Amino acid sequence: MSKLKTPAVIINFKAYTEVEGGRALKLAESCLEVAEESGVAISVCPPLPELSLISSAVALPVLAQHVDAKKPGSATGWVTPSMISAAGAAGSLLNHSEHRMILADLAAAVAACRSLELTTVVCTDTAITSAAAASLAPDFIAVEPPELIGGDVSVTEARPEVVSEAVAAVQKIDADIQVLCGAGVKTGKDVAKAIELGAAGVLLASGVVKAADPKAVLRDLVRYL
Ligand code: G3P
Repeated sequence: MSKLKTPAVIINFKAYTEVEGGRALKLAESCLEVAEESGVAISVCPPLPELSLISSAVALPVLAQHVDAKKPGSATGWVTPSMISAAGAAGSLLNHSEHRMILADLAAAVAACRSLELTTVVCTDTAITSAAAASLAPDFIAVEPPELIGGDVSVTEARPEVVSEAVAAVQKIDADIQVLCGAGVKTGKDVAKAIELGAAGVLLASGVVKAADPKAVLRDLVRYL
C-alpha cells in the first residue's frame, strides 16, 4: 500500500550542490510550505546523508533516491531497505536513470521494500521497460526518457507518446500501479499535460532544485492540481 497520495509531485534533490548539507532541509521546508498551502501531495528525495534529518523535521513523505537489495549486516556502503525505513523514509526511488540496477537486484529490492511497507517508485525509460517493471508490482513507475533529463523541454511536450504508451502498457499488466513521468518538467502546464496523458503525477529535479526561487516554481507546478 503506497504512502503517497496522487496526483503526486516528487522532487528528487539528486546530488546537486544546491542541496548539500543544510540546504537540503531548507528546500524540503519550501516543499512543505507549498504542500500545506496548496493541499498537493509533494514528496521529497533528499541526498542520503540528509534522509533521517529531513524525515524527522519535515511532515512530508520522504523517499530515498536509491535502495539496494541487501540485508542488514555485512553490507558496507550499501543502502538497505531496513536502513531507510529506520531513518523514517516512506519509500524509495529505484532504478533511476542515473543509478540503474540489474533486474534480479531490482526485483529483490522491490520485494524487500514491500515487506517493510516502503513505497516503491521504479524508474524506466520506455513503454517496454515500464511493462517489464510492472511485473515486479511496485507502487509507482516513473517513466523518464534519459536524453530529456536535466533539459529545458518537458517529456510531456517532446515525447508525450512515451507517457501515454507507458500508462497503457502498465495498465494492461497491473492496473493498481500508478505511472508518473519526468524529464524536463518545470511548469504547472507540464504537470497538467502529464495528468492529461494519464500520468498520476510527476518526478522532477532541476526545475526546482536549481531554481533561483524554488518556492515560486513549486507554486506554479501545483497550480492546476
Ligand atoms: O528524478 C527526476 C529526473 O531524473 C528528472 O530530472 O532535472 O529533468 O527534472 P529533471
